[in-house]
This record gives sequence, C-alpha cells and structure tokens, in this order.
Amino acid sequence: MQKNILKSGIEISEVGLGCMSLGTDSNHAETIIDEAIQQGITYFDTADLYDFGENEKIVGKILKKYQDQNGIVIGSKVGNHFNKETKEHFWDPSKEHIMNSIKASLQRLNIEQLDLYMLHGGTIEDNKDESIEAFERLKEEGLIKAYGISSIRPNVIDYYLENSNIETIMMQFSLLDNRPEDLLEKIDQHDVKILARGPVSKGLLTGKSTEILNKKFKDGFLEYNYNDLSDTISQLNKEYDNLSAVTFNYLKSFNALGSIITGASSPDQLKDSIQNYNQSLTEKEIKHARAIVKNLEYTNHLS
Ligand SMILES: NC(=O)c1ccc[n+]([C@@H]2O[C@H](COP(=O)([O-])OP(=O)(O)OC[C@H]3O[C@@H](n4cnc5c(N)ncnc54)[C@H](OP(=O)(O)O)[C@@H]3O)[C@@H](O)[C@H]2O)c1
Repeated sequence: MQKNILKSGIEISEVGLGCMSLGTDSNHAETIIDEAIQQGITYFDTADLYDFGENEKIVGKILKKYQDQNGIVIGSKVGNHFNKETKEHFWDPSKEHIMNSIKASLQRLNIEQLDLYMLHGGTIEDNKDESIEAFERLKEEGLIKAYGISSIRPNVIDYYLENSNIETIMMQFSLLDNRPEDLLEKIDQHDVKILARGPVSKGLLTGKSTEILNKKFKDGFLEYNYNDLSDTISQLNKEYDNLSAVTFNYLKSFNALGSIITGASSPDQLKDSIQNYNQSLTEKEIKHARAIVKNLEYTNHLS
C-alpha cells in the first residue's frame, strides 16, 4: 500500500479505515480492523464523539494487538462536549475544552501520544486562534504529534492554511462530490494533505450502485436529483466495470491526497474496496469519468 507523508514526517497509508460506523460490537469491529491490517492499511480514523467515546475505546483496544507492528497511525477528533447518557452534544472549540479532551481520548485509546488530532468542524465565527493555540500547546507537551481540521467550509480552511500548522484537512471528496477540487492547489502549496472521506458515497460508487441508489439516494445527492443521479450512474456503469475503481483512481490522481478514508460494514466490503483501489486506470479513463459527472462547487462559507 502506498504511503503518503505529512509535514511532520508521519506516514499514512493511502487508504485509511474510517472507524465511525464500526458499531459497538467489539468482535464485529475486530473482523474489520483485522482485515484492514491484512490489506496494508495503517491509518485509522476515529473521533471522541463517535458512539460517545465507545469508538475510541474499541479502536484502541483492537489496535493494541498490533502495537509491535510499525507504522500504525491513529487520528481522532475534538470539539464537541458530549453526554454519553443523554446523547446530547454541543460545539466547543475552546482551548480549555481541547486541552481537557485529549486526556480522555488518550485514556480511551489506551495510548500516551496521539498521532493526529483534528478539530471536528467549526465555523468562521469561532475563536480559531484559541483552538490553534491549544493544538500547538499539545504538540509542545508531546501529547499529540500533529494536528488538522475536518471542514468543508472554504473560509475556515483558508484561515487555518494561513494561520496554523495544520497538516491535514478531512473533507468529503469523491468523483461525485468533486467540490474540493478548487481548493486543492492552495492546500498543496501549503504542503497540507487531504483526508478524503466518503470516497464511495455510502456504496453508490461500488459494484452495487443500482441497489444503493434506490436504497439510500431517493432524495438525490448534493446538486443531483434522483433522476440526474440515476442517469449519471447508468452512464458510468456502461463505460466502467466498477465505480469504486473509478472514484479511487480519481482521488489518487491529486498531489494533495494524504489518505482515502473509507468506511465498511464488513471485511468483504473492505477487501472489495482495496481490490478496486489497486486497479489502475489511465489518465484518459479518469478524465473521461470526470467529464461524465457534474462540476460541483462550494456555494456557502466562502468569505
Ligand atoms: N465530519 C467528519 O469528520 C466526518 C464525517 C463523516 C465521516 N467521517 C469519517 O470518514 C469515514 C468514512 O465515511 P463514510 O462512512 O460516510 O464513507 P463511505 O466510505 O463513503 O461509506 C461507507 C459505507 O459505504 C458502504 N460501502 C463501503 N464499501 C462498500 C462496498 N465495497 N460495497 C458496498 N457498499 C460499500 C457501506 O454501507 P453499509 O453500512 O450500508 O453497508 C459503508 O458503511 C467515517 O468512518 C469517519 O471515520 C468523518
């Protein structure tokens, strides 16, 4: 598996496992994480909020088995106060909250230092300098190795690129949601890497596209209504054997790519995704697929 290198030297596998939907059955989660390791995945993405802390606990416990294996990298996220009992949560990117939350995350993950700590969203109105100060402090104290943000707001992304030492930006990015394209040159100039989440669009860009279209996309997707989406998917299916290979190759074609964060509800799905990631399409084939889908752009949070 190709590895990509962050500014601080951390190496992340070009496909990472999105752990958000692993669920709370540790045995089931273990089958997926074991498969990920077998497939060469070394980057694991979680967040304190996923299952209100349970996801970090499960991921930490299972990855302990692999602690002697070099190169496992864990990313987690912060910015929400949550109550496990009532399932309520609210946004808080304050320095105090970030500085306190890392301790709980480290404890749940059962590690002493987190590789990558990301702000789990945020708006332009937040006190961003305070959040940046907190991440810098955590780096100085050795509690984290690097930090990043998860955001699809161009104004927030711009601010962090200009005023912080972020190393990664997590954003929804796939052949269908190609909105990040306009931001990539700037991101690359800052030597920041993209963590592309939602690469297969919940399964729509897989061998099961027609079934998933009717199951999950009755209301369309972004600027596509159901009929647009159905036409686009049919045209892609006519010309390509498997839409996962197309979306993975599309994402691989960008310099700024750090890791493609894919979710899976079974080991077989993950195996299928990696098989398709390993299939190479030519530049011409990727360009042709890109010409079939719409050109999407961010329309909000621009300044
Ligand atoms: N704001 C944020 O920071 C944020 C937000 C969202 C996600 N994330 C991260 O990104 C990760 C990935 O996000 P995502 O789960 O939305 O993305 P995704 O990879 O597009 O969707 C995963 C889902 O797609 C289906 N799928 C995957 N591979 C398949 C295959 N080969 N064949 C058929 N179906 C397949 C499965 O659905 P079924 O379960 O129905 O089988 C799976 O649960 C998350 O786990 C999380 O770590 C971060």
